[in-house]
Amino acid sequence: MTSHTAIPSVLAATTAAASTADAARDSTAADRAAADPTGAAHDLPERMTAVVRTAWGTIDDVVGVKVGPTPTPGDGQVVLEVAAAGIERGSLHLVSGLPYLMRLMGYGIRRPTQPVLGSEVAGRVVALGPGVTRLSLGDRVFGVASGSFAEYAVADADELAHVPDDVASDAAALAAISGATALEAVEDHGRVRPGHHVLVLGASGGVGSAAVQLAKAAGATVTGVASTAKLDAVRALGADHVVDYTTQDPLDTDVRYDVILDIAGQHPTARLRRVLADDGTLVFVGGEGGQRITGGVGRGVRGMLLSPFVSHRLVMFIGSEDHELLARVATHLANGSLVPVVDRRIGLDDVPAAMHDLEAGRVTGKIAIVIDREI
Ligand SMILES: NC(=O)c1ccc[n+]([C@@H]2O[C@H](COP(=O)([O-])OP(=O)(O)OC[C@H]3O[C@@H](n4cnc5c(N)ncnc54)[C@H](OP(=O)(O)O)[C@@H]3O)[C@@H](O)[C@H]2O)c1
Repeated sequence: MTSHTAIPSVLAATTAAASTADAARDSTAADRAAADPTGAAHDLPERMTAVVRTAWGTIDDVVGVKVGPTPTPGDGQVVLEVAAAGIERGSLHLVSGLPYLMRLMGYGIRRPTQPVLGSEVAGRVVALGPGVTRLSLGDRVFGVASGSFAEYAVADADELAHVPDDVASDAAALAAISGATALEAVEDHGRVRPGHHVLVLGASGGVGSAAVQLAKAAGATVTGVASTAKLDAVRALGADHVVDYTTQDPLDTDVRYDVILDIAGQHPTARLRRVLADDGTLVFVGGEGGQRITGGVGRGVRGMLLSPFVSHRLVMFIGSEDHELLARVATHLANGSLVPVVDRRIGLDDVPAAMHDLEAGRVTGKIAIVIDREI
């Protein structure tokens, strides 16, 4: 069951529960880390449970929960005992292999190069590869790990940052890509300032729910666009105005926005520019659909090429996923200006069903995978 309303109370209750579970898990990992003063590696199990697919295809055809080998770290990498992972839009692309452009970007032409799904992660460092100096065994970290839907995952140390003490692992995991992308969109590319009016298209999803909070934290007035059932959730995040895109065209307005964060990607650039202030900024963050080769990327690239010739600033970006950006996300998590919206928490077995829900638009915020270990 998804929970599309009453997010603050749900969050308060579940975050406390998650923190207790985190504390219990953390003590076992920390104990083992303390028992290994060399900082090399632990007595990791040889096999682990993971959500895998070995071919590109549909969720039902290719995704399954299997037992396979526990990964080992290479140069500059660590192994994490996964506490939580986030299911984000990218996870769906990593099942279908679409758009084709991503296959050329190293994800595998004929079949996936990495069989284990997942990217967002939070967990404990339990093994260090050669050359890792930024992190130590036992550190509680979050960030990006290819293959995070598993009991253990390997990550580049440079793509991990420390989780603040009072922040639950599932909250950190959900912010690792969605929160970081929202932060880049709001602060770095949107350059949102106090007094700005910001339009967030796609305000109820993983990136958008974070963007609404971060734009409010930057002092902006925020209009959030989402579907009917999710409007209360967007209001609860702090949005000053909401628009239901299923009943109203959000661009049929007299308002001129200082910044538009286009996360849903459903409108032509010319229409978006019509509701932008003369010196306004349009940030292309995402959007599903588009053609099968490049997906939604073409619109943003064309916008950037146009940007030097018009008064508007048109920006497209791909998230940077580095530890410095993650440390900024951690600051927002610690001071409460970013509280990831948890639709629900699930185990690895429930991932295929959760992916169907995400695909069908039945998720508000994000679904968190929580690894329940015997302690
Ligand atoms: N640039 C980057 O580095 C980067 C990083 C991460 C993600 N992305 C991309 O950003 C996009 C959003 O990711 P996400 O994780 O936030 O996805 P998500 O959680 O599925 O959220 C999608 C959002 O779009 C809204 N939406 C869907 N159809 C819409 C329409 N016709 N008009 C207005 N809003 C509509 C949804 O509203 P309802 O649910 O209320 O219908 C929801 O708020 C994806 O395309 C993803 O690939 C880009």
